[in-house]
Amino acid sequence: MRAMRNIVILISGRGTNMQAIVRSAQQQKWNCRIAAVISNRPDAKGLEFAASHGIATAVVASRDFADRDSFDAALQTAIDHFVPDLVVLAGFMRILTTPFVDHYRGRMMNIHPSLLPSFPGLATHRQALAAGVKVHGVTVHFVTPDLDHGPIVAQAAVPVFPNDSEQTLAERVLEQEHLLYPQAVRWFIDGRLQLVDGRVQLTDLPL
Ligand code: GAR
Repeated sequence: MRAMRNIVILISGRGTNMQAIVRSAQQQKWNCRIAAVISNRPDAKGLEFAASHGIATAVVASRDFADRDSFDAALQTAIDHFVPDLVVLAGFMRILTTPFVDHYRGRMMNIHPSLLPSFPGLATHRQALAAGVKVHGVTVHFVTPDLDHGPIVAQAAVPVFPNDSEQTLAERVLEQEHLLYPQAVRWFIDGRLQLVDGRVQLTDLPL
């Protein structure tokens, strides 16, 4: 039996991906503890959900810090207090410094609402509509210092319809996010993700 894994989830807003992970972990009895949910915004809606599920919450308010270095240092202290095996960025809308990312190399994941490497950055659904792609989607990846870049753990695709708006497309993608992210986190917890030559391989369940 593998040791129980500690997870810390970072959010900036409503936290529906965090909720999907918490629910899956509880319902499927994952071998992990969601040790904390941490937000850079005190008003993040997701904090209420976490607290109501008995999960420790913390706020490291980005607006209280003069620069990225001092914010990331404070955030790292807050995270490491919970001794995480995995840090999960779930709608955490901050650009992170290289020392911070390096500290969690191989144990920090992000979800991005596009099929990377297409459409990094913001307004991904608008970018997809403007490009006229017929397929769009979502990516879960390990975090590297380059924004929205890093070894891909999992992707899911959705069709783009001619009459789609940003909102209808975002909803279709979000539905997939809520399935994909819990699956990817579970693979990590079960020890099934291996980095080989900078690419992620999914291995069989260890005996
Ligand atoms: C999600 O769509 C996530 O993929 C996106 O923010 C949303 C957060 O929703 N993340 C990014 O754009 C990261 N660059 P949630 O708070 O309900 O999970």
